[in-house]
Amino acid sequence: MAGTGRAPASTPGLALRPLRAADLPVVLAIQRAAYGDGYQESAAVLGRKLALAPQACWMAHRGDDALGYVFAHPWDAAGAPPLHVALAALPAGADRGFVHDLAVSPAARGLGVAAALFGRVRDWSRAAGHVGMRLVALGDAVPFWTRLGFSALPSDLPAAYGDGACLMERPLAEGQR
Ligand SMILES: CC(C)(COP(=O)(O)OP(=O)(O)OC[C@H]1O[C@@H](n2cnc3c(N)ncnc32)[C@H](O)[C@@H]1OP(=O)(O)O)[C@@H](O)C(=O)NCCC(=O)NCCS
Repeated sequence: MAGTGRAPASTPGLALRPLRAADLPVVLAIQRAAYGDGYQESAAVLGRKLALAPQACWMAHRGDDALGYVFAHPWDAAGAPPLHVALAALPAGADRGFVHDLAVSPAARGLGVAAALFGRVRDWSRAAGHVGMRLVALGDAVPFWTRLGFSALPSDLPAAYGDGACLMERPLAEGQR
């Protein structure tokens, strides 16, 4: 399915397309609906990630309705990027795909939107030759990521990630979903 923009077979009308800078207002609205007022990023920080790794940032939509998004970018084995900071550059020798944020509008949950978005960035990361993927699971998302093959790593995360945030990683072996 990588790179085709086709709808996942199980959800009629659901399609994925590359994120664009013009999508940032709707991304921020979905982020607020998904996490509440306690976690909101800036368009500048997200826009910088999109500029650094446009091939790793995707929007899920049905017609004109935005349903969810994912931001990812190359990273390395050094913990997690600082939160709420526009990245100056990607690490030299990055060998992992870092899933910065994946969120689905509450009205579109349970339709396979997150699974489709994750599949797209997993395919991107594998095609880039990364050895694995990592992310910081926020709040109660650890069980969701565990189902997708991630395991917790011991680490000291930047305080901005908040209580309960958990650094997780999974390998990207050939043939593994
Ligand atoms: C977590 C979230 C992304 C799931 O989105 P979704 O589109 O409803 O998920 P999907 O329909 O693609 O479900 C994919 C699979 O994950 C499972 N799943 C969904 N939400 C889950 C959760 N909170 N905990 C455990 N499993 C979950 C589904 O049952 C499904 O399993 P299956 O493939 O065996 O049927 C969505 O609830 C969300 O945006 N939450 C708020 C933001 C968030 O926490 N994002 C993660 C950031 S760290």
